[in-house]
Amino acid sequence: MRDHDAPRSSTPAFTRRAFLKGSSAAMAAGAVATTPVQQAEAAPKRKNVFGPEPVKITLSVNGRKHTVTVEPRVTLLEVLRNDLNLTGCKEVDDNTASGADTVLIDGKAVLASARLAIECQGKEIQTVESLRNGDRVDPVIAGFVKHDAMQCGFCTPGFVMAVRAFLNKHPNATLEQIRKGLGGNICRCGTYAGITRCALELARQ
Ligand code: FES
Repeated sequence: MRDHDAPRSSTPAFTRRAFLKGSSAAMAAGAVATTPVQQAEAAPKRKNVFGPEPVKITLSVNGRKHTVTVEPRVTLLEVLRNDLNLTGCKEVDDNTASGADTVLIDGKAVLASARLAIECQGKEIQTVESLRNGDRVDPVIAGFVKHDAMQCGFCTPGFVMAVRAFLNKHPNATLEQIRKGLGGNICRCGTYAGITRCALELARQ
């Protein structure tokens, strides 16, 4: 019978027995962690790890500071609607495709359901509620009314915030730029013509 550990050719550099011996020696020398407990103890300590238990966070929303206690998995949209009663931004679907949850974070249009609340600390969050002060409303809201840019109204707060952010950045936008810039928001009622007219009029003023 053939010895399986015997060299098969004239180059005797490597045998299975030698390999196993070497492996055992390496494991013993390196004290490799093999159990979950050992692996957890051996893993480098990570900093700034939160949860899963609730944590206290402070958000700056519409110029006011709000402290809430939420699980780290909670989205900004959930905190705005459920904890702060700011129900302008809407949840339409699970994949943030509609843009109805658009808010501004540090002046940029952002989907609130795509952000964890915990990561929005230290930033200025602006919701559609900030565009009204008593009887005075932002020109974008007035423009939506003037141009009949809503039907059921479900997408409207998100669209208003998207138009506000877009015009802040492109105050003299063309029709083509407006259509492209608002392409991330969807209106199932098909009010695009009114929204576009509103944005174009504001851009021309
Ligand atoms: Fe109904 Fe846009 S007005 S979804």
